[in-house]
Amino acid sequence: MSGDGSPPPPRYVSESDAPAPPLRGRAEVRRRLQSTRGGGRKLRRLGPLLRPYRGRVIAMFAALVAATLAALAPGPLVKHAIDDGIQQGDARVLTIIVGLFIVSALLVWAGTALQTYLVSWVGQRVLQDLRIQIFAHLQRLPVSFYERKRTGVLISRLTNDVQALDTLVSDAVVTLFQAGLTLIGASAILFFYDAQLALLAFAVLPVVVIGSVLFRIAAADAYKRTRETIGALSAELQETLSGVRVVRAFGREDRHLERFAELNEENRAANMFTVHLNAAYFPAVEFASAVATLLVLSVGGVQVIQGETTIGVLVLFMATLGSFFDPIQQLSQLYTTYQSGLAALDKIFELLDEPVDLTDAKDAIDLPHVEGRLSLDGVSFRYSPQTPWALRDVSVNVEAGQTLALVGATGAGKSTLAKLLARFYDPTEGTVRIDGHDLRDVHQQSLRRQLGIVPQEPFLFSGTIADNLRFGRPDATDEELMAALSAIGAAEFVSALEDGLDAEIGERGVQLSGGQRQLLAFARMLLADPRLLILDEATAAVDPRSERLIEQALHTLMAGRTVVVIAHRLSTIRGADQIAVLEGGAVTEVGTHASLVAAGGRYADLDASWRSQGVAGAAGVGAGTGATKDPAS
Ligand SMILES: Nc1ncnc2c1ncn2[C@@H]1O[C@H](COP(=O)(O)OP(=O)(O)O)[C@@H](O)[C@H]1O
Ligand SMILES: [Mg+2]
Repeated sequence: MSGDGSPPPPRYVSESDAPAPPLRGRAEVRRRLQSTRGGGRKLRRLGPLLRPYRGRVIAMFAALVAATLAALAPGPLVKHAIDDGIQQGDARVLTIIVGLFIVSALLVWAGTALQTYLVSWVGQRVLQDLRIQIFAHLQRLPVSFYERKRTGVLISRLTNDVQALDTLVSDAVVTLFQAGLTLIGASAILFFYDAQLALLAFAVLPVVVIGSVLFRIAAADAYKRTRETIGALSAELQETLSGVRVVRAFGREDRHLERFAELNEENRAANMFTVHLNAAYFPAVEFASAVATLLVLSVGGVQVIQGETTIGVLVLFMATLGSFFDPIQQLSQLYTTYQSGLAALDKIFELLDEPVDLTDAKDAIDLPHVEGRLSLDGVSFRYSPQTPWALRDVSVNVEAGQTLALVGATGAGKSTLAKLLARFYDPTEGTVRIDGHDLRDVHQQSLRRQLGIVPQEPFLFSGTIADNLRFGRPDATDEELMAALSAIGAAEFVSALEDGLDAEIGERGVQLSGGQRQLLAFARMLLADPRLLILDEATAAVDPRSERLIEQALHTLMAGRTVVVIAHRLSTIRGADQIAVLEGGAVTEVGTHASLVAAGGRYADLDASWRSQGVAGAAGVGAGTGATKDPAS
């Protein structure tokens, strides 16, 4: 949101999508050519995915081989029909060959049908399995992972990349196999029947091969560029849409339109470049094929006249040369599919290789039902060895059922402390204990069951209000849901809705205000009934009208629990049993409201400034939220 007006640098969907450096010299060409060498090793990771469908994969390849070989049969068959049947006036031979012709046609038909069916069958299953596998993995990844990766990128792993992989498996592998086999089979047939003519036909090959290799290199870059530009386009789209309120509020629509138009233009240019390449390459291969046919026809024709070869052989060459040049085209076209498939494979496995959540210790125990005593002992933490300490030597104790309020400027480390309590991260130094149990020694599930976190902007899932409330306790009855709602003070507005508890939330249902969403989140938490509660500026996104309601709701929710509250509201801070002031990751003052005011330190200053501003309810402690021009809150 900087106001300098300069366009942001292009965003690429992920690091590996960043643009390839331009080609520089022969070494670079060699490197590019070799970059596919690892393909085999990468493809091998697909093995376990295919294993359950082994039988079908084998049947598919058998059908593919049968159909491909049978498709090569017409050339030789016609040759023998002409030379041994027609020329010799032998009707019996002709009949046999016609019979064989029918057999080969049937084989092509049945083989192709079977292979088409099987490859899709297996492809769809693998696709399905892989999506489930990725999804399951995503659910086990630590919260820290989601702080690093953007949702859009992850969604694209499950959609675009899985799709690209499907194309690789079902399309590219089949084409590779089929084209390769056809190429080998066709050359073998040509050489077998007339090596001299075959060499003549292959005279154009060096040109075609060099052309194909050049095309392959250029096309790989060009198609990569199209993928990058479309990725940048959708990233821009996603960001503009999610930030639409900010865009509106600052009147930046024009800038975003401009940026979108730029990216759109880049995408068009990238696509047009591939069109130029295709227009140059494919017709050229056609032409080379025509030249080869021409050579064979003229030289072979003279040979037939001179009786050096037969008409049958000439016809065979005419029939088979096509089968020789088509695969070359297919293979060079395939290269781009293969490349993007491998890139997708890389990205998917990189995601699957991401280490899962902080694993439980081998001798971890189930946390018993806790009273809720919390203690931090010499806790220091940093997000990575390169970043500064986010917490420094923090030691605090909270007795069961008591409330600790954390106060401090934005970036002081309040949220970080909350994340450590929930064991989203382990402390770099020191220990966090609940009822004397080091969090590293207990099963995470057993910890999280007894711990609730209410963030600043609660997340409600699509579905009904009841569905969302039951998230906290799946077996709750409607009466229990209503009881929780009335305890929180939300029964009134829910009852006023046409469908009550069954009202749909979100896009096609009721739209809720920030305060109403927060009340529902409180009710959900009340139903879950955790022993320990963490409130991270849970009242910051609430409109002033609901203030009193929220205040009472909070009071109800906090009763009888151990609470760590990152407070935004003065009344919550004052009522806390203990207040800790965080500055630059260190706790500088601890005490009650009265004792801290009396001590005349940092907290006393803060309190005085809140007072002088006449802020009765919301204190601008977290400086970020209250002051930002953001119509969302
Ligand atoms: N996921 C993260 N990775 C790296 N640094 C982070 C991350 N989250 C927060 N920080 C840094 O840790 C410090 C404390 O942040 P935080 O706990 O969010 O502060 P507060 O909640 O008090 O505003 C800040 O310097 C912030 O930049
Ligand atoms: Mg925070």
